[in-house]
Amino acid sequence: LRAHLSQKPTKRLGSFDDSLHRSSDAGSIHTNDGIYEKPVPRIHNSVVKEKILQRRSLELRNKQEDWQGSPDGQRMLEFRRSLPAFKEKDAFLKVISDNQVIVVSGETGCGKTTQLPQYILESEIEAGRGAGCNIICTQPRRISAMSVSERVAAERGEKLGESVGYKVRLEGMKGRDTRLLFCTTGVLLRRLLVDRTLNGVTHVVVDEIHERGMNEDFLLIVLKELLPRRPDLRLILMSATLNAELFSSYFDGAPTMHIPGFTYPVRARFLEDILEVTGYRLNPYNQIDDYGQEKTWKMQKQALAFRKRKSQIASAVEDALEVADFNGYSLRTRESLSCWCPDSLGFNLIEHVLSHIVKNERPGAVLVFMTGWDDINSLKDKLQTHPLLGDPSRVLLLACHGSMASTEQRLIFENPEGGVRKIVLATNMAETSITINDVVFVVDCGKAKETSYDALNNTPCLLPSWISKAAARQRRGRAGRVQPGECYHLYPRCVYDAFADYQLPELLRTPLQSLCLQIKSLQLGSISEFLARALQPPEPLSVQNAVEYLKIIGALDDNENLTVLGRKLSMLPVEPKLGKMLILGAIFNCLDPIMTVVAGLSVRDPFVMPADKKDLAESAKAQFSARDYSDHLALVRAYEGWKEAEAQQAGYEYCWRNFLSSQTLRAIDSLRKQFFYLLKDIGLVDHNSETYSRLSPEEHLVRAVICAGLFPGVSSVVNKDKSIALKTMEDGQVLLYGNSVNGSVPKIPYPWLVFNEKVKVNAVFLRDSTGISDSVLLLFGGNVSRGGLDGHLKMLGGYLEFFMKPELANTYLRLKGELEELIQKK
Ligand code: CDP
Ligand code: MG
Repeated sequence: LRAHLSQKPTKRLGSFDDSLHRSSDAGSIHTNDGIYEKPVPRIHNSVVKEKILQRRSLELRNKQEDWQGSPDGQRMLEFRRSLPAFKEKDAFLKVISDNQVIVVSGETGCGKTTQLPQYILESEIEAGRGAGCNIICTQPRRISAMSVSERVAAERGEKLGESVGYKVRLEGMKGRDTRLLFCTTGVLLRRLLVDRTLNGVTHVVVDEIHERGMNEDFLLIVLKELLPRRPDLRLILMSATLNAELFSSYFDGAPTMHIPGFTYPVRARFLEDILEVTGYRLNPYNQIDDYGQEKTWKMQKQALAFRKRKSQIASAVEDALEVADFNGYSLRTRESLSCWCPDSLGFNLIEHVLSHIVKNERPGAVLVFMTGWDDINSLKDKLQTHPLLGDPSRVLLLACHGSMASTEQRLIFENPEGGVRKIVLATNMAETSITINDVVFVVDCGKAKETSYDALNNTPCLLPSWISKAAARQRRGRAGRVQPGECYHLYPRCVYDAFADYQLPELLRTPLQSLCLQIKSLQLGSISEFLARALQPPEPLSVQNAVEYLKIIGALDDNENLTVLGRKLSMLPVEPKLGKMLILGAIFNCLDPIMTVVAGLSVRDPFVMPADKKDLAESAKAQFSARDYSDHLALVRAYEGWKEAEAQQAGYEYCWRNFLSSQTLRAIDSLRKQFFYLLKDIGLVDHNSETYSRLSPEEHLVRAVICAGLFPGVSSVVNKDKSIALKTMEDGQVLLYGNSVNGSVPKIPYPWLVFNEKVKVNAVFLRDSTGISDSVLLLFGGNVSRGGLDGHLKMLGGYLEFFMKPELANTYLRLKGELEELIQKK
């Protein structure tokens, strides 16, 4: 080493350059997650370091001045000065120089995200400290991190990856000179894993805190504890609503600042006004028949549940719509709200309102708030066949959701030409994190898909539920950006009056497993004590369930310490169960299909089920699983078929024929590559290996690894004459989602199904299941390392007894005997 250094002094300079910036290849795509950045040699010569910093800072200043002096730069500055945030610029910079923490609130679109971090950057550069500053701004969603960084780079006359970059899970654009980085909250949390004091970071900006996402609440606890150890670090919290006081008091009375914004008035119309204005009459019975046709219920149980629901809907709709005087209609509880269900009833109504706007209203873009990606797609399909709304010379229909491609994203912000009206169908992400300037009309279905968590039964629920009053106001506000606007709320005013004021923080309504793992890997001490320090701490029972789950899968030992498996799991940016599958896939040498399964489960299902061709789509999917009884293996086969078709340039046709989304398959493909790099980095895959075995020969092994990952998600299977009874320990009787390959078979020749997820809707439904045999459950279900084989048996014993299969214990003892014999022989 000494010889090397003395021969090549210039090399030292180069490595120092790297040490200033954690990543050195300008503008490149980063495949890792910010966890495994290679340690760079540090140069201790502070004089050299100081000189280089000065030189860099000077370069940055010259570049910034050149841009601001150019005609394009002037025009951009002029626009930026017109934003409400600009008036507060000096006050803001003063407050952050005097205080460690500040909470800023301001209406969406006033310039918090794009301007405030940029003001810090510019002022540091002007002061000649540009190269020394390092600003991180977190966003709850990937798409906003990407689109905002692109916008800020453009405002600075640069390409992405120069002074402004972004980093989201498994992807990013960040260069040697990147001083302002937009990243998802998860990425910053992962960085904290390896860099607990955020060494070198000068400012952390946490955006959209009003959303009260789980990661943001978690990050706030960590930062709150870090601040005393990093007195030079500045923390800026940004919120779109006025509840800044809550955060300010959490940070010991940190100063707050409000950016007064100007928006035009927006007229709110509720269902009763809409029906009057548009002359539309809802016939509840027709609507309900539409709803009935959409779902092909297969099991008697499902049919029963449906009929019950149908009558509930019918009576609620009758009450709400047939009663002439809406004000006379009062809602007794929030419960009764959930019977009234605009997302399934409302497609016709939305279509009607949209054609009313296109026909009769002044020009201006329309923003429609829907519950989720599936709804958006089905509505888009429906509208495309409409004579007026489907006519591309009149209407430009766009979808906007978290996982769309970036070209699609750009169209959303552009103004269509030639009097074409832009209609954007969006999820609640368009409430605050994305601003579409030319929106004049908002259509609000009143619901959002929200995860909630039933701690008593340890079951996550995903239901379209009513939004809060704050969210409804926010949605309405999106119509008044450029001129007075109109908002169509597709529910009666009395329903609005019954909305909760604010949405419950995510920490209180989701399972906490990944979070608990992270707390342990960040060495933050006892999980329950740590979480008790949150802004609004979660229920002790939820915490207990999560810890117990981590113990069952072997990520934590009995004393709540991280196991070797737990440590590896915390390094993988997927849920613990999926991480466990990856790790075991690597160990058992069947990584290729397992990577497909995990990628599929973490992206989304590539099988598309259009409402009107559901049967065709289901049989297309069933073809991939003729003898497997596994949604997971069907996914693997579909993916492998697509890869082959792609190689012959027939990928698109293949997808079309088989009801697959080529966009999703492409995302799965790229995620698989990322997993492979990651596993190489952690040392689970040999660095030289390139390809790995395919599914065919080792299908049993793949099934076993899937079981190992998904346990304790297991249900027993009892084939009856005309139906199949499924049962889990916590929920008793459960049902399969209609699109499962196991949902349409007469018999399942496996005694158990492991499942990826169960969701409580009206009953508990299992999503994505795989049939497994007794021996696979015995050997791969659970955590052999906990209490050895005997402890394992004891735990499984509970299951076996519950499912009345005590004879399995004998099988187990035999297998165990054989195994021990085998071990002795070896
Ligand atoms: O964060 P906040 O909601 O306060 O506003 P912002 O995202 O910083 O956006 C401020 C303004 O920048 C918006 O009102 C838009 O006029 C503009 N902007 C844009 O033109 N294109 C983007 N991709 C983002 C923002
Ligand atoms: Mg913002």
